[in-house]
Amino acid sequence: MTQVLRRLVPFADPAVLVDAGTSDDAAVYRLDADRALVATVDFFTPVVDDPYDFGRIAAANALSDVYAMGGRPLFALNLVAFPRALLGEGILEEIVRGGGEVAREAGIAVVGGHSIDDPEPKFGLCVIGEVHPERMLRNSTARAGDRLVLTKALGTGVVATALKAGAAAPEVVAAAVASMAALNRAAAEAMVRAGAHAATDVTGFGLLGHLREVLLASRLAARVRADAVPLLPGVLELAAAGHVPGGTRRNRADLAGSVRWSVDVPEPLRILLCDAQTSGGLLVALAPDAAAQLVEELTGMGLPAAEIGELVAGDAGAIVVLG
Ligand code: CO
Ligand code: CO
Repeated sequence: MTQVLRRLVPFADPAVLVDAGTSDDAAVYRLDADRALVATVDFFTPVVDDPYDFGRIAAANALSDVYAMGGRPLFALNLVAFPRALLGEGILEEIVRGGGEVAREAGIAVVGGHSIDDPEPKFGLCVIGEVHPERMLRNSTARAGDRLVLTKALGTGVVATALKAGAAAPEVVAAAVASMAALNRAAAEAMVRAGAHAATDVTGFGLLGHLREVLLASRLAARVRADAVPLLPGVLELAAAGHVPGGTRRNRADLAGSVRWSVDVPEPLRILLCDAQTSGGLLVALAPDAAAQLVEELTGMGLPAAEIGELVAGDAGAIVVLG
């Protein structure tokens, strides 16, 4: 969410449990003692050429914000901007079909939506979910001593930029598309079962940017082990060759005052830890035993989950990256 959207007209409603103030992934609204609604909206311009894949990725990304709160999605609405006269309805059909497939995988129906004519295509979902008010996972509830688990490999921003330059090998693109289109559902269900303390999903601010949001909200510092962070195939080479998105460069610059890099962390790896992700994995803070159990469960399902660091008392938002 951009900073501008945090400047909302203040209105104190006690039923609003989570608003834009803590950089959380979705709004949460209490219905009664045991039930709260989780609401989020997410849409963007195409990140890949194939319209069906774009639809899948946009839907997985939108659903991710409900999962990141520890919630369960209930239903979704389509958000469509599309130049009908220019591109023809067939492409739009493919985009919407891709989104619908992923929603079905999440066990929910897409029950409507809204479309406008727009020279630049955009697609996404508004997703409504539910969570128990006492079991939602906020950014502000991580604890010192928690371990950090990341559930998807990094590098989708670098691959998307290399793809535009015609520099990404087909198997590298395929791996990135598979990662972006994958739901965070299994990871979310497992982290809730494991008793996670806090979680967010890794998107535009990159791994370290989203970690810093958790740290600021929870008043903690972190140590990250760079060599433990899972990476998509081929991305170190692409980052080294200069295929770095503008958003990733901005993240790196924004993080300069918060991150201390150990000298043995190579430059391409530093870029990837700041790489703006599309439909990235969950970043979960949980007790050491629970973290080990979560990684074992997720890797057992074939997910690239890994323990990548720990939370410590210290300057809120400070991150040390070890080689
Ligand atoms: Co999010
Ligand atoms: Co989002």
